[in-house]
Amino acid sequence: EKGGYASFMLKEIAEQPKAVTDTLLGRIDGAGRLSLDEVRIPDAVLREADKVVIVACGTAFHAGLIAKYAIEHWTRIPCEVELASEFRYRDPILNRRTLVVAISQSGETMDTLMALRHAREQGAKVLAVCNTNGSTIPRESDAVLYTHAGPEVAVASTKAFLTQLVACYLLALYLGQVRGTQWGDEIHAVVRDLARIGDDVERVLETMEPVRALARSLADKDTVLFLGRHVGYPVALEGALKLKELAYMHAEGFAAGELKHGPIALIEEGLPVVVVVPSPRGRSVLHDKIVSNIQEIRARGARTIVIAEEGDEAVVPYADHLVRIPATPTLLQPLVATVPLQVFACELATARGNEVDQPRNLAKSVTVE
Ligand code: M6R
Repeated sequence: EKGGYASFMLKEIAEQPKAVTDTLLGRIDGAGRLSLDEVRIPDAVLREADKVVIVACGTAFHAGLIAKYAIEHWTRIPCEVELASEFRYRDPILNRRTLVVAISQSGETMDTLMALRHAREQGAKVLAVCNTNGSTIPRESDAVLYTHAGPEVAVASTKAFLTQLVACYLLALYLGQVRGTQWGDEIHAVVRDLARIGDDVERVLETMEPVRALARSLADKDTVLFLGRHVGYPVALEGALKLKELAYMHAEGFAAGELKHGPIALIEEGLPVVVVVPSPRGRSVLHDKIVSNIQEIRARGARTIVIAEEGDEAVVPYADHLVRIPATPTLLQPLVATVPLQVFACELATARGNEVDQPRNLAKSVTVE
């Protein structure tokens, strides 16, 4: 069943280019227009929506955090993202013009299900982003946008995460399309790059050997920190979650701009810090700021593991280890930047003698609140 791989997780990491491509299939036409016919929420409702609220848990929550950047930037509709387990207990403000998006690989996560039930009771429309046909969450939603990752067996989510991102990008672009948001050059470039992102993911997978070697060399460490900005921040959170659940190590993700507000005190000689660097093109201010952050932590002894676009030379002097990813539009970068973090966590866990498909204390789908 593992198709020659040592674990389901490795198999599922390798399946990501196909999962991403399958999720795009038939949803973008030759002219770069989106068609999501299966989403049965009428365009009129999508046009009227004045707020998007995303609810999810764990890795799916991280996909939601990234989706917020895309939705707000491409559609100008305000978007909130909340952990499903927190959502209904704070009496959220919802009405008929609220579009709630529930993201779940399994479609059975109880916290997410309870959040969507609460949202529907308040009159909100609920769209599920789900990987499991006919599961409870899509059945109880007004509409569903399926991810086509195929069955995900390993407890740690990998290919489902990438396809959740793709589905959220499609949703954001579609919302922009039905609402008549200006379709500028930027959007055209994004749609074009999205359509071929599977090849970029493939290229990342082909260059992972140094990441594996690095992971093995860190097997005796106690802590790894992850830093990112903008969409790189949720990627940092996801990298840290993978390491916690698989390697049982202390791992934390921070917004790089928060360093000086506290976390920089954690930096000491030899501490591995993974930094996800935004593209130097586009929002270059972010790039320059993170390069200063890398300098700051390195000056305090951190061992820097830098994930940066091909051609980004500014980071080279400050990177103890450099992991190259293909250039993509800023908002799509998580699709390529997350992959090395998955490989890193999987290899580190294996080097520590852990069972990667079935980490201790965890279940694949969490059907209790
Ligand atoms: O099935 P779901 O997407 O609703 O599951 C949500 C989380 O339980 C899940 O993503 C969990 O965090 C993963 N084990 C992370 O790798």
